[in-house]
Amino acid sequence: MSNPAPEEWKNPLRSHADRRLPRIAGPSGMVIFGVTGDLAKRKLLPAIYDLAYRGLLPAGFTLVGFGRRPWSKEEFENYVREQVEVGARTDFDEHVWARLAEGMHFVQGAFDDDEAFESMAELLRHMDATRGTAGNWAFYLSVPPEYFSNVIDQLDRTGMAQAENGQWRRVIIEKPFGHNLATARELNETINSVFPERAVFRIDHYLGKETVQNILAMRFANQMFEPLWNAQFVDHVQITMAEDIGLGGRAGYYDGIGAARDVIQNHLLQLLALVAMDEPVSFSPRQLRYEKLKILRATKPIGPFEETTARGQYTAGWQGSEQVVGLREEDGFDPESSTETYAACTLGVNSRRWAGVPFYLRTGKRLGRRVTEIALVFKKAPHEAFGPGLTSQLGANTLVIRVQPDEGILLRFGSKVPGSTMEVRDVNMDFSYTEAFTEESPEAYERLILDALLDETGLFPTAAEVERSWEILDPILDYWAATGRPDEYAAGTWGPTSADEMMAAHGRTWRRP
Ligand code: BG6
Repeated sequence: MSNPAPEEWKNPLRSHADRRLPRIAGPSGMVIFGVTGDLAKRKLLPAIYDLAYRGLLPAGFTLVGFGRRPWSKEEFENYVREQVEVGARTDFDEHVWARLAEGMHFVQGAFDDDEAFESMAELLRHMDATRGTAGNWAFYLSVPPEYFSNVIDQLDRTGMAQAENGQWRRVIIEKPFGHNLATARELNETINSVFPERAVFRIDHYLGKETVQNILAMRFANQMFEPLWNAQFVDHVQITMAEDIGLGGRAGYYDGIGAARDVIQNHLLQLLALVAMDEPVSFSPRQLRYEKLKILRATKPIGPFEETTARGQYTAGWQGSEQVVGLREEDGFDPESSTETYAACTLGVNSRRWAGVPFYLRTGKRLGRRVTEIALVFKKAPHEAFGPGLTSQLGANTLVIRVQPDEGILLRFGSKVPGSTMEVRDVNMDFSYTEAFTEESPEAYERLILDALLDETGLFPTAAEVERSWEILDPILDYWAATGRPDEYAAGTWGPTSADEMMAAHGRTWRRP
């Protein structure tokens, strides 16, 4: 276990001024709406325990769940404990658990239940007086977007959204942030009518991943990459987020949303922004977000869409040794639906650095394997120094940032094959996070929840970024909406043939990660 036991964090000589030391949240509490949902179960509750285990939550941290179930405090505790025992990455420690559980409460109610919100307001006041939460509350909305405005209005009406002097109130919001640009704008207006933008934390959990943050370190802490990071040397960029899982129990959420809205609009466009942006003047949240927005503003879909995009739905097939059903047979999915489970598109970045370099983005469920990576494929050397026969097996130099799994960086380049001729073939140079560092990476949600409690806004997309991302995607979504059903691909393969054709039309191929 690489994590230190919680007792070790209690050294009073530790100073917050030392940036290498852990950042510990000040007095505060969190309310989770949607606490019985899939995300809270799998990610949020385990992450909160992991933070407690690492000693990063304040002593009186208080967790309030809100939901319809008629739970007592004890029943809520038991429910949280179950999720933590299954999902936490740190050891289960009775002492840590007991302290955390002391501060757990449950409020029963529906989103239109005025009384329930009034008793929650009362509970928060009581917690401020008895547990030292000091009036500092984060409201986590892990609920479908159609309920956002109900909850926000209730928080406003009962005064919970308003902080008194020296206190803070923040709202943390899960995607989807709307269905297109128009609905995203409405949503942002609703939220901002009660919470100032400064107090809004939109979650894109990819930004909480260590390897995603390492894109910045790699690019801007080193000298050797940046000179090559432009249209003069890069032929194209491929951003892939492949999943081997199918829809499982999420058909209800996914139907009508699809791969592009679920993943490209947020995670993949954020990855593009981090890869393509210029170096910020500083790494303050303001400057970082400024550079991301600038590059997103320069990003546009490239058409004609019948040639530059592809989408598909998986059919029955084999996932490793397991036989799996097709999308239309998944429970809760409308067999007539046109919702895609695979999406690919071509984007261009209109800037001096990237003019003419296509960015190919793809994502899909039930693909060959789970992998997220960014590949910069470089141009070929300007002439064939060793003759065509000797370099026939040589591909393009490629730099791959492997976001997950096997987090690391891979460089692919030509090397001489041992022997008497000057034959050159591709080899890989591989950096692996787990081999280079002994520390275990925190889960994305640990980082993001802690950042929200600490008021660190850098890893949360702004309203403007979210809206701009929809603006990039909307024309493609409109085109798809007007063109009938997606193509098909068998589960366990790498997507529909139209995706390969899309690359072939440009004389390129997808990497097989
Ligand atoms: C979520 C999507 O944002 O990311 C899911 O809604 C997807 O459909 C998930 O499965 C993947 O996250 P990760 O961290 O496992 O790559």
